[in-house]
Amino acid sequence: MPDSGAVAWRMPPQGRPMPMMLPSLMGSIPSVIPFLPGSDLDPASVPEAVFREIVEMADGDTLRLEAGFVRRTIGNRTFTMYGFNGQYPGPLIRVPQGAEIVVLFTNSIDLPTSVHWHGVRLDNRFDGVPGVTQDPVEPGESFVYRVYFRDAGLYWYHPHHREDVQQDLGLYGNMLVDSPEPDYLGPVNGEDFLVLDDLLVDDAGLFPYGREGAVQTLMGRFGNRLIVNGEPRWELTARRGEVRRLYLTNVANTRTFNLVLGGARAKLVGADVSKFERETWVEHVVLAPAQRYIVDVRFDEAGTVALTNSIQAIDHFRAEFYPVVDTLGLVTVLDEPVEADHEAAFATLRENEDVITDIDRYRGEFGRAPDHELELGMRVGELPSAMVAVMALDTLYFPPVEWNDVMPMMNYLSTSKNLEWILRDPATGRENRDIEWHFTEGDVVKIRIHNRRRSFHPMQHPIHIHGQRFLVVERDGVPNENLAWKDTVVIPVGSTFDILLEASNPGNWMLHCHIAEHLEAGMKTVFTVDPPGGG
Ligand code: C2O
Ligand code: CU
Repeated sequence: MPDSGAVAWRMPPQGRPMPMMLPSLMGSIPSVIPFLPGSDLDPASVPEAVFREIVEMADGDTLRLEAGFVRRTIGNRTFTMYGFNGQYPGPLIRVPQGAEIVVLFTNSIDLPTSVHWHGVRLDNRFDGVPGVTQDPVEPGESFVYRVYFRDAGLYWYHPHHREDVQQDLGLYGNMLVDSPEPDYLGPVNGEDFLVLDDLLVDDAGLFPYGREGAVQTLMGRFGNRLIVNGEPRWELTARRGEVRRLYLTNVANTRTFNLVLGGARAKLVGADVSKFERETWVEHVVLAPAQRYIVDVRFDEAGTVALTNSIQAIDHFRAEFYPVVDTLGLVTVLDEPVEADHEAAFATLRENEDVITDIDRYRGEFGRAPDHELELGMRVGELPSAMVAVMALDTLYFPPVEWNDVMPMMNYLSTSKNLEWILRDPATGRENRDIEWHFTEGDVVKIRIHNRRRSFHPMQHPIHIHGQRFLVVERDGVPNENLAWKDTVVIPVGSTFDILLEASNPGNWMLHCHIAEHLEAGMKTVFTVDPPGGG
């Protein structure tokens, strides 16, 4: 049925019927206007998106990047969405470490936007944060970015304006930065990029967004269709004994994935901004929004291996857990031996002296008192009182990680207008944008982050810091024995984490929760790194 362009709120799709749906909440709708970008466009006039290309670039090269409307066919449904250069995901930019590229960006969507180069320690002017490093790029306008790649690793780019809408509709792409060292990572037979996401869909199509502000700010927008590289299923054919390197990126608004590759041996090699000190065998990988991991996998036996998201969902109202296993992909392992067998290298867990030596410079600081603390919390405004009453029921149990949308109705009614997520500095009592931390380039800053269980509807928060790198040195008093440089860390409910931030890059930088709706609901601050000797 052609879309008339009139978008209306409707009840959010629900995984499980809720036994005590409050009569007073029935029929309530969010206090913001529903909208769906492109709902007034004739889908036939919008180009069908094509699968992303890999763009290999060298120092000084230029890329044209355009955010525009695309038609996407996912399963047997067709949607009007967004894409970079008409692709899904956006082009995969592959560059050597130390390169700087020029990106001529054009905004051809219907909303102001910008591009943020997540995890990249680039020049502050090109960090892509409207209101902090640039003005938003209005529809029809352009902006020139210079992106400098200081660190080898796996990164991604996405808009930094209304991510809850724009990123969700398909504006994201990977960047892979290769180290000049040929043996930087062990030998593999092939590489695969898996961009993990979800979409919220009902019989009428994509579920609307809020026009003047985000909806679903309580828990973030959980999709009910899981997608990998924009498709309902990732597929791979491998030979027996093949070792594949999986580059994993979570671009979902709020969903944390727990990935399991049934039966295949998997080795955790790298995280956001570096390799780990030591490679380790893993049975599953937990990936919060914006996080990346590099995992090497060997398919020892012929047959089929499923990639699943395997979670313990929680039903708050029944106070019970139930397992949910969604198949994200299938690997067909042929009964033909791989030609170049890397078994010996794969079976060896490397110790990465380069990473260890780099981190050694900071080990003396691990045990000291924190320089700053942050508390994560939330405040409600004009929520329906019945909803506040339900949220405060002490029969509700909050798990360390919310894997699924446990309260779709209450989530639906919470917006960036009636609910505020908060970063609070207990030393000053300041919150969010008022925190105003100042550092000097070269500072090593220990930050203790508390996500207290007793706060009102606690939830895990993936905390991201722009333009710098950090180490997670301690989790709930337990030293982290295997470090990697990170730009995003997820703090579970009830936990306290210590991070050591290397203030290495001058400018004004954001620190925020990467749940898109929490960011829209205020959970962000900006800190300054001054050049050394400057004032
Ligand atoms: Cu990927 Cu400020 O974000
Ligand atoms: Cu959050």
